[in-house]
Amino acid sequence: MVGTALITGGAGFIGSYVTRRLLADGWHVLVYDAHANGNVLTMLMPEAFDDPHILVESGPITDGERLRAVCLAHGVEVAVHLASPLTQDVTARPAAGIADICLGTAALFEAAHAAGLRRIVWASSVAVFGASAHYPPGPLANDACHRPSTLYGSCKSLCETLSRRAFETDGLDVVGLRLSVVYGAGRLRGYMSYPSHMLREAAAGNPVHIPWGRQPLHWQYVEEVADLVATLVVPGAGGGGRTFNAPGDCRTWADIGAVLAAARPDLEITVADEVDPVLADVVEDYDASALAEACGYTMRWPLERAVPATLEHYRKMLASPILLQKVGSVASNH
Ligand SMILES: NC(=O)c1ccc[n+]([C@@H]2O[C@H](COP(=O)([O-])OP(=O)(O)OC[C@H]3O[C@@H](n4cnc5c(N)ncnc54)[C@H](O)[C@@H]3O)[C@@H](O)[C@H]2O)c1
Repeated sequence: MVGTALITGGAGFIGSYVTRRLLADGWHVLVYDAHANGNVLTMLMPEAFDDPHILVESGPITDGERLRAVCLAHGVEVAVHLASPLTQDVTARPAAGIADICLGTAALFEAAHAAGLRRIVWASSVAVFGASAHYPPGPLANDACHRPSTLYGSCKSLCETLSRRAFETDGLDVVGLRLSVVYGAGRLRGYMSYPSHMLREAAAGNPVHIPWGRQPLHWQYVEEVADLVATLVVPGAGGGGRTFNAPGDCRTWADIGAVLAAARPDLEITVADEVDPVLADVVEDYDASALAEACGYTMRWPLERAVPATLEHYRKMLASPILLQKVGSVASNH
């Protein structure tokens, strides 16, 4: 693989893993992020800031002119668009949230078109769908109607329309991925960061209590997302103009307790039989067969593979005084 990939939000949780993965595939990477330093990238790849294959730019996603200019200046060929506030940020600050998600995505698509980029992959969310009561039982179809119950979900829904428009009107080869509960070592932000925090406690050897044993979640390992993005970002990979449910492992917290116990028999694990009231009416599973048909990608990271990988990754982070220090500084920055 050759060429330069722009990764907006590339210093955040998913962006850091995508950055690492695209570098491994031979891409040069241009990270563009409002908080480029002291973020997850600093923790995951402390060497990133000295790596000649990575350029790091700090800036707002709404600055389309700057995005166009950096793409042209650095010969960017493809882009991964991840820069976005998360659910609670948009609820707390609607004007800024709408601007950053909707205007930011529109600005990125326009800049990509103006700079002649060959492929864009961007992160939508299963939050475009609404309460489970609106849908038939079973994994939710890719083309199920949008009934977002949060402002964040409404913004991502508008971005899906922008994405379709960019494909149909500008001929931009753009593909969206609806992510769900992304977990892995280093996740710091968002309500759904608590699965990752629980795994961090387990990696540290601390007792783990799982209150929501009966609660199913659509567990999506961060390396799954990185693999998927790496597959889709290649020009001609398929699925252009569409947004897809991304694969995840739909399992209960009790299941993850069992996987943890198998990986770390020494751990003290207790599992209660509750459901998380915040998630009581969310859709539990998403049908990712449309994505598989479009580009051949199916789930590679079930819990049994991903949980031990996360524990090992956290173990290394926790064993490194430098990384621990970074974790502290990142956590206090946000
Ligand atoms: N983590 C999940 O479970 C999940 C689920 C569904 C969708 N997503 C989507 O995936 C993407 C990445 O999420 P994440 O978990 O890595 O979040 P994150 O907060 O760790 O990373 C997002 C990055 O975007 C940057 N950013 C935010 N607003 C910006 C702005 N206005 N200008 C420039 N940079 C800005 C942040 O500094 C951060 O580094 C987002 O688009 C998010 O909506 C994530």
